[in-house]
Amino acid sequence: RPDALVIALDGPAASGKGTLAKKIAGQFGLPHLDTGLLYRAVGCGVLDHGGDPGNVAAAIEVAAKLDLAALDEARLRGATMGEAASRVAAIPEVRVVLLDLQRRFAAQPGGAVLDGRDIGTVICPDAKVKIFVTATPEVRAERRFKELAGRGEAVTFEDVLADIERRDARDSSRTTAPLVAAADAHLLDTTTLDIDAAFRAALDIIGRR
Ligand code: CDP
Ligand code: CDP
Repeated sequence: RPDALVIALDGPAASGKGTLAKKIAGQFGLPHLDTGLLYRAVGCGVLDHGGDPGNVAAAIEVAAKLDLAALDEARLRGATMGEAASRVAAIPEVRVVLLDLQRRFAAQPGGAVLDGRDIGTVICPDAKVKIFVTATPEVRAERRFKELAGRGEAVTFEDVLADIERRDARDSSRTTAPLVAAADAHLLDTTTLDIDAAFRAALDIIGRR
């Protein structure tokens, strides 16, 4: 649909893409899908069945049975789930299983806002607006650390930084749909921007399109 407003936000862990996506969706009255939750749910499902997130057959089976309506967001955002998500996300067959669901979400009549790693490159290559959100690893780790500590999780800043760096490296180096900015994406570095300033910068980018 030429008139649909599809907005793609990608970027590394805790860059602020989810927060931005939610605010943008609210501003334009569009539905929002946090695609990281899908991979977190697959990783979580494999762990719950006593499996290893590197187990290809188990991960594909969980992905095929994924029920969007049953996702437990609070649990999926826990510190251990990001790592499991990143491991199942490196399995090409898992990405194929989750592709249709994401494309169908993006194809809603008025448009949609999706955030993840490969929205602008693979899921919605024709998105009206693509924003690649970044920030230094230290700032991202500080944000995620505060978020997890605020939820009562026993984590250290060093653990969170190590997790983010390990995940970024794996996500960037995998062969299928690696974390990379689309050639036509607008870069938004939020290192020195709070949420309001980042939101204004994103609205500016969208307005210029
Ligand atoms: O919120 P955060 O950026 O820490 O993670 P997330 O967006 O929930 O994504 C968790 C993991 O899922 C990432 O580290 C990626 O490995 C994977 N992912 C992906 O491969 N493709 C997406 N579109 C979204 C997430
Ligand atoms: O979705 P992603 O993993 O990229 O990041 P997020 O969940 O939107 O943001 C991670 C944490 O950083 C949240 O607690 C946000 O409130 C916070 N944040 C921030 O302090 N400043 C920003 N400019 C963006 C996010």
